Amino acid sequence: MPAQLRILITAGPTYEPIDEVRFIGNRSSGRLGVAVASEALRRGWIVTLLLGPNAADPEPGVHVRRFRTTADLEGLLREEFPKCDVLVMAAAVADYRPVGGGAGGKIRRSEGGLRIELEPTPDLLAGVAKSRQPGQVIVGFALEPRERLMESAREKILRKGIDAIVANPLETMDSPEIEAVLIRRDGTSEATPGRVDKGVFAAWLIDRLVRAGSK
Ligand code: CTP
Repeated sequence: MPAQLRILITAGPTYEPIDEVRFIGNRSSGRLGVAVASEALRRGWIVTLLLGPNAADPEPGVHVRRFRTTADLEGLLREEFPKCDVLVMAAAVADYRPVGGGAGGKIRRSEGGLRIELEPTPDLLAGVAKSRQPGQVIVGFALEPRERLMESAREKILRKGIDAIVANPLETMDSPEIEAVLIRRDGTSEATPGRVDKGVFAAWLIDRLVRAGSK
């Protein structure tokens, strides 16, 4: 791997429009991705951060591009992924979005209730993994219930065709701390020493990314 690595990080939630003023979102703060961006910058890497709405401000020096919807993020990944050595996909991408979302003004209140039809979003990680060049390292994240954290994360590595996944229990979302296990495609895994600050975790992860890439 080159000394000055180009890292692409995605972070934060997606907001999927229901109409022109409402959306379906999630509680992701984007804090973890911003911490990974800062740590990579400190190591002299070239850092691009694709950042969702309502997420923390990254420091100057990080090249930031903003997204709102899964479709926006898909477009940005198409442009940025071919230019990176490492992709860290920490964004909490929606699994479903309203059909035809965002069109038709503001839905009015009615006594009859409201049904919103949802369609699945494309799996962005699986999509980029199909287009990867030799040497590109792809790391995903998986927020899982504790009791099936390992098996579910392993299944996702294979299904999405990626190199490794950071599995963490559901309590991690929107928290300043993280307790995580890094699971690699070859079946090996390493856990953080309990709950750690997301800044500490960023350094822990980047140390291991370098090793994953130099294999
Ligand atoms: N992800 C993605 N595109 C989606 C959904 C998720 O690229 N439409 C990415 C996330 O950014 C994360 C990884 O896939 O890095 C795992 O996300 P997760 O929601 O845990 O996985 P899913 O495939 O959605 O599986 P499930 O909802 O069954 O847990």
